[in-house]
Amino acid sequence: MDKFVIHGGRTLNGSVAIGGAKNATLALMPATILAGGVSHLYNTPALRDVNTMSVLLRTMGVVAELNDHTLTLDTRGINKFEAPYEHMKKMRASIYVLGPLLARFGQAKVSLPGGCAWGPRPVNLHIEAMRKLGAEIELREGYIYAKATRLQGGRIHFDVSSVGATGNALMAAVLARGTTLIENAAIEPEITQLAEFLVTMGGHIHGIGTSRLEIEGVADLHVSDITTIPDRIEAGTFLIAGALCGGRTTLTRVIPAHLTAVTAKLEDAGAVLHTTTDTITLTAPRKLVSVDVTASIYPGFPTDMQAQWSALMAVADGTSVVTDSIYFDRFKHIPELLRLGADIEVKDNAAVVRGVRSLTGAKVMSTDLRASASLILAGLIARGTTEVLRVYHLDRGYEAIEKKLHALGADIERVAGEEF
Ligand code: EPZ
Repeated sequence: MDKFVIHGGRTLNGSVAIGGAKNATLALMPATILAGGVSHLYNTPALRDVNTMSVLLRTMGVVAELNDHTLTLDTRGINKFEAPYEHMKKMRASIYVLGPLLARFGQAKVSLPGGCAWGPRPVNLHIEAMRKLGAEIELREGYIYAKATRLQGGRIHFDVSSVGATGNALMAAVLARGTTLIENAAIEPEITQLAEFLVTMGGHIHGIGTSRLEIEGVADLHVSDITTIPDRIEAGTFLIAGALCGGRTTLTRVIPAHLTAVTAKLEDAGAVLHTTTDTITLTAPRKLVSVDVTASIYPGFPTDMQAQWSALMAVADGTSVVTDSIYFDRFKHIPELLRLGADIEVKDNAAVVRGVRSLTGAKVMSTDLRASASLILAGLIARGTTEVLRVYHLDRGYEAIEKKLHALGADIERVAGEEF
């Protein structure tokens, strides 16, 4: 398992190109199941999770090839309708094949997800949505057995805003007979892009970008191509790196409108930001100001950014509270930040961060994707050497992050090797 070795204290300056959005790609890939043919997903990031999804689709008979950030998917040979536990336990987004398999083939056998690094992550909303569209669902031996001769349009009202359940409901409804209404739909940019992709495939969807989606089912869809939107979480992570390390960092190939909650909070913390249509330039403050954040659904502050925010606040002037209103126990990074000298206390679903003058390097362990990102960020400013172990967690959602940070001036290298 690889580790990163970081010598902290370097100033970051320069420009970094942001890659395609992981969470858009993980929805767009299963969406291609809905039509037989060859699709091209441009600006696809080379990530472990993308590879995991490709391997899953290949087991179903899809030909999937990623070449220089273009993912080509041939869905004419699908002959298996199953997402086995082996894949689900690696990546919860495997559940995204449920809706399209039901819609196009009338059957699906999808493993229930196990736990994840932070507590249970149920899929009841996915299952209820499929039932609302007429699917027969049986839960047996850890699997969802689903079948439907033809899905029927219906009214789906989500009690909780769910990115994944909205995605599955959309991909099922586009081929259902009749009209489907989805209320309290997630409006994250990745779901908006999924809806747009389905429309280019011939789907009829109204209200895209709002929490009320109306879908008129069609008999069939055709293949299409799309360019994946930039990854707003990778962008936010690099902005925090710039704010932490001093200097001036420019992000290119971003959509500033997708991360307004993050940029607003960075300005409150003292950073100076300048945006154009597809760039954000951040000038770091001399001293960071403590700022509270509450992670919530889009367009609020993303839960996928709350660990990185705690790393920033760890060396800010004052005390801040970082609350997560979506996941109540997504704080596995805190004990590792404490090893670096941070002063943070977790109370229920909030971390109380008391800024300290400096952090000191140590060996720390990655536990999940965004927790790993917060440890990298802390290592960039910790005095001395920080070793972040088990960076395969990071490789799930960040493409060559160490190379991008190194190009900005960080002293960071990947050390391949034995069990760390
Ligand atoms: C997506 O996960 C993202 N993953 C997550 O990003 C992100 O943290 C999350 O949305 C929230 O923004 C992908 O897009 C692949 P949800 P998802 O369904 O769809 C509850 C990352 O780091 N819920 O919006 O699984 C759930 O427990 C990953 O890139 C139910 O109760 O999240 C949570 O409290 C981590 N029942 C809330 O809804 C359900 O059936 C939001 O979850 C489904 C969800």
